[in-house]
Amino acid sequence: MEKLKIRNLHKEFTVHTRGGLKINGYHDINFELNKGEFLSLYGPSGLGKSSVLKALYRTYTTTSGEILFNYEDGSSLDIAKASESEILHLRKEHLGYVSQFLQVLPRISAVDIVAQPLIEKGESENKAKDKAKEMLSFLNIKEELFDISPLTFSGGEQQRVNIAKGIIAPKSVLLLDEPTASLDKTNTNKVIDKLLEIKKDGVTMIGIFHDMDCMKRISDKIYDMKEKRYADNH
Ligand SMILES: Nc1ncnc2c1ncn2[C@@H]1O[C@H](COP(=O)(O)OP(=O)(O)O)[C@@H](O)[C@H]1O
Ligand SMILES: [Mg+2]
Repeated sequence: MEKLKIRNLHKEFTVHTRGGLKINGYHDINFELNKGEFLSLYGPSGLGKSSVLKALYRTYTTTSGEILFNYEDGSSLDIAKASESEILHLRKEHLGYVSQFLQVLPRISAVDIVAQPLIEKGESENKAKDKAKEMLSFLNIKEELFDISPLTFSGGEQQRVNIAKGIIAPKSVLLLDEPTASLDKTNTNKVIDKLLEIKKDGVTMIGIFHDMDCMKRISDKIYDMKEKRYADNH
């Protein structure tokens, strides 16, 4: 990915179970970022931050506007209008999404969950598991939990497993919806350290944070969803 450009993005939700009631999602959203940059979406709850991330991942469709994903070879794709198969390809090769909550099948261990993206990328099972353990240890998950399903973990532990899985084999663009929401200061900083590391490797990220310090520490740009402009990042 060379550049990601969001132009005049607008979303109106239609609630079919309420006779087609229209709900304003977001409007007039404009921002862009280059390879390796971190942009945060900022603003009060209900302003459409999560919905914009979902539009970028195309979990949600967009009412109007463009989401231009420029590839390094000069070609580009408008995510807002791309076909389902183009989106599947984009997600497989270039675009990752770290949701707010861990969603996993029962009876799969934390290590296996975190190793999976590496195995899909072609890493051997042993090596993938070693790297997964390293990542879990870095994020302060106790070793005695490694071989257990994270479904019984605490909220903060689950969130760290979710992040570990989301960033262990990062694609060129990563979307992060409040990845540190239920973490204490120490673990939040650990997550930010890891994100800074993958940013150095050239991964482009768009994130949403509750914590202002942490948002300022990692962001190159902050887009204010209320004022519809970049905020001062200092
Ligand atoms: N699937 C949906 N159907 C209808 N309304 C939705 C849907 N998803 C989000 N919304 C509405 O869009 C608005 C923005 O929500 P959201 O993107 O979650 O905001 P934020 O992440 O900034 O708190 C809210 O009013 C929310 O109720
Ligand atoms: Mg949200």
